[in-house]
Amino acid sequence: MKKWISRQYAAGLAIAAISVAGMAPAAAIAGPLSPTGRWTANAQGNAPVPPMGWSSWNAFNSDIDEQKILGNAKVLVDSGLSRLGYRYVDIDDGWWLKRRQPDGRMVIRTSSFPSARLPGKDNSSFRPLTDRLHAMGLKAGIYSDIGRNSCGQIYTSNFANQPEGTQAEREVGLYGHVAQDISLYFKEWGFDLIKVDGCGIRGLAADTPLVRSGRYRALKPLVDMDSLGRTDIPAVRALYQQVADALARDNPDHDYVYSICLWGSANVREWAKDVGNISRTSDDISPSWSRMLSNLDSVSTRALYAEPGTWNDPDMLYIGSGDFDADHLTEARSHFALWAMMDAPLMIGMDMRKVSPALMAILGNADIVALDQDPAGNQAVPAFMSGDIQTFVKTLNTGEKAVAIFNRSLNPRKVTLTAEQLKYRPDADVVLTDLWSKAKTHFRGQTSFRIKPHQTLIFTAKGTRRLPNGLYLSEQPGMVNPAVDGVTVPTPDPTIHRSVPGWASTTGTGVYPQYGGWGGAQADRAPYGQSLSIAGHAYDTGIGILANSRMEVRNNGFTQFVASVGVDDSALPTDSPVVFEVYGDGKLLAQSQPKHFGEAPDRLKADVRGVSIVELVARATGKSPAPEPIAWANARLIH
Ligand code: GLA
Repeated sequence: MKKWISRQYAAGLAIAAISVAGMAPAAAIAGPLSPTGRWTANAQGNAPVPPMGWSSWNAFNSDIDEQKILGNAKVLVDSGLSRLGYRYVDIDDGWWLKRRQPDGRMVIRTSSFPSARLPGKDNSSFRPLTDRLHAMGLKAGIYSDIGRNSCGQIYTSNFANQPEGTQAEREVGLYGHVAQDISLYFKEWGFDLIKVDGCGIRGLAADTPLVRSGRYRALKPLVDMDSLGRTDIPAVRALYQQVADALARDNPDHDYVYSICLWGSANVREWAKDVGNISRTSDDISPSWSRMLSNLDSVSTRALYAEPGTWNDPDMLYIGSGDFDADHLTEARSHFALWAMMDAPLMIGMDMRKVSPALMAILGNADIVALDQDPAGNQAVPAFMSGDIQTFVKTLNTGEKAVAIFNRSLNPRKVTLTAEQLKYRPDADVVLTDLWSKAKTHFRGQTSFRIKPHQTLIFTAKGTRRLPNGLYLSEQPGMVNPAVDGVTVPTPDPTIHRSVPGWASTTGTGVYPQYGGWGGAQADRAPYGQSLSIAGHAYDTGIGILANSRMEVRNNGFTQFVASVGVDDSALPTDSPVVFEVYGDGKLLAQSQPKHFGEAPDRLKADVRGVSIVELVARATGKSPAPEPIAWANARLIH
């Protein structure tokens, strides 16, 4: 194989001309599978680690005012939480009064935010408030909508502080005002974060009562939460891209966070990582156990879609309320530990003026916060999955591991953790440090625990790495960008827990999967969740993805890439063999034979010395190329 490639190079043939008997010309077609030699996920804005802070929404809904915002900001500072990283203070829905006519300048509800008053009619500025937050060492976040109207106006109009005035004055969203509003919020008012909701492009079809009554202007819905087919994905993406461009323009220092709030609709799984800094993967969380499970499930198999600069957002924390209040500390600890393992933005959602010492001890657990903020940015990867018990493992910057074992069920039970699940050697000691009690224990091979209902055991783990001289790609999902994941027909992920949210009724026929993430790239699993397996041989590590895919991998000074490649056994036999190609900064370094279903893997090896971006391309060839599951088994970067 290697020889064949060097012959091609010797002959001075361009990649476009390379072909192998029996397969279509490789890379002949310029397109999404052509190597770019670049990292194409979003690198704009300021989110090298997941943003942390406090948001007004879960605590107050839209019933907000300056006292509540500043009171909570003060607790972040006085309690020391801001020093741990809780810096963003986000003003969610409820701040706006109207859009001034005819110039379109947004007006703040100064009866609730007196410091925003400026002389003159309908004139206001958040600058005094953001100045105060900045002087406290904090950052300030604001909220808007990508459409003309807000979620509150369309879905919770009984909530406080809805925009007022004429129909035009009540159009407070960004639609048609992106440049004007972003410049106002960032250049003039000094905000550091914007959350952009999507209700305005969802709920205002011409025949809805809200439009027919003349209350709001019609806007052809672009998003249908229940139907990807009825969603105009490119149009939604283009609108959100406009905001990204305005943010980059108005913030030359790049000190901003762009929070996309599309609740997992419009196939954001695929594109938000290229556009924003954080992206909601599910509909709203509520203070209910079952809802927390849904939100967790929407991110827990998506580690490859989060990387430094862009993170999965399973929504804000609900610690302090309902199933996560001071009487449910087991549940509150689980919610917190899981969000940290998932590299979720840790946004507190309670009124911190009322926080109890026990809840403060959860939010202020520095060791768990450190997992979330670990600079390597590797979201945890599932090591064991079931509807009851789940084990997640996260590789830290030091090469050590964090592990969480989560009991979703109402039954106490015995759970086992193995050194293999940590990618540690079974014949050497593994030292576990419990991140709640700080107690240390050690084991060889495997160990067992009793786990309580709804409990999450969370540890850091030191051991002897199975791969001493490098990292498996699945240990560094923050370095892997599935630039093209091979999903051609976005389909809602049926594995996500289908809770009935508190705001929904049980009329109709049920709750259905909404998040278009089915079949995406997975760490240590096949794209539909099975274990990786080629020709009957199982692999406990690697990347599972569909054919016709291209991944970008940042190479952190390693010298060799190695993997065993083939069609995964979760595929069906087709007449469409797959060719695997490894590129280094855009140059072809290694290529497999065409691989059929059931065929033993090819071992690919590439010299990546001095290479910054390794690209892994899997092309379906043959008569009817199919998006079949394929495996980059044991894929690793080593010295
Ligand atoms: C939507 C968002 C929430 C919150 C509300 C405000 O529901 O998903 O997070 O911002 O709007 O109305």
